[in-house]
Amino acid sequence: PADLLFSYKGVLYPSILCSPEMFQKLESLEARKDDVMLIAYPKCGTNWVIQILHEMIFMLTNKPPAPDISMIEFGTPDKIERMNQQPSPRVLTSHLHPDNIPKSFFTNKTKKLVIFRNPKDTAVSYFHFYNNNALLPNFSSWDEFFQHFISGKVCWSSYFEHACAWNEYLDDENVLIVTYEDLKENLVAGVKQIAEFFGLPLTQEQIQEIADKSTFQNMKAKSRETHGNFGHVVFRKGDIGDWKSYFSPAQNQEMDDSFNKYLAGTKLGAKLKYDVHCK
Ligand code: A3P
Repeated sequence: PADLLFSYKGVLYPSILCSPEMFQKLESLEARKDDVMLIAYPKCGTNWVIQILHEMIFMLTNKPPAPDISMIEFGTPDKIERMNQQPSPRVLTSHLHPDNIPKSFFTNKTKKLVIFRNPKDTAVSYFHFYNNNALLPNFSSWDEFFQHFISGKVCWSSYFEHACAWNEYLDDENVLIVTYEDLKENLVAGVKQIAEFFGLPLTQEQIQEIADKSTFQNMKAKSRETHGNFGHVVFRKGDIGDWKSYFSPAQNQEMDDSFNKYLAGTKLGAKLKYDVHCK
């Protein structure tokens, strides 16, 4: 049904989680220099990196994360006042396009970690997420979903517009862009890079421990505890290359065309290693 989603400033959102009132209020969320912020287009590895960040902060402070831990754009406007009262360091997450993130997160020099994943696996992951999520419409087929994804008619809109926008921040010292594939290839190195970016003084042993806890197998095994009945939907397959079982030659071509149009020759395009992971 159409009312599961609504459009705000040209972007689609799930109605039960987001509202125009919340977007208006969001600008008054006060960014801090010591916030630990993660931004990801949906299905690029949000839950994975949230866990890594929570483990890091827990190791350093011995305090569990504050309650309002979902995306900053979820919930009702009263949440903003609570978040403005929370002690530092706050772990904040969002799926928002950079233009829609409150401006203070840029002017106050908050460090922003951004995770991207190759668009083909992102699309397949999103397809399953849509079809196993009562908050989102169902698609009768992969082909139907693909057309929505490629034209940006999904929640948080176009993957490629997000990627192009973040590409502009690659040289910003307060932005670190990591990829799902690089984390998958070497999680210890990824965890270390993230800790260093946020200036979190973790030992090599602590970094190793966080990486061990954050493998797909270990997170999936605990997913009932961490995500309830939704665990099996969030922790589905956790692989690189699942797209090969879904994409038709024509869809492949269409995705390659979009990549070429938006990202070929850009720094983020190179970081995504499209030739390695999408060919
Ligand atoms: P798949 O659907 O391809 O399995 P998000 O958290 O942004 O919604 O992304 C979910 C995707 O990240 C899912 O992809 C999920 O399996 C994968 N994922 C979650 N935790 C992971 C981990 N520890 N290692 C690898 N992939 C993980």
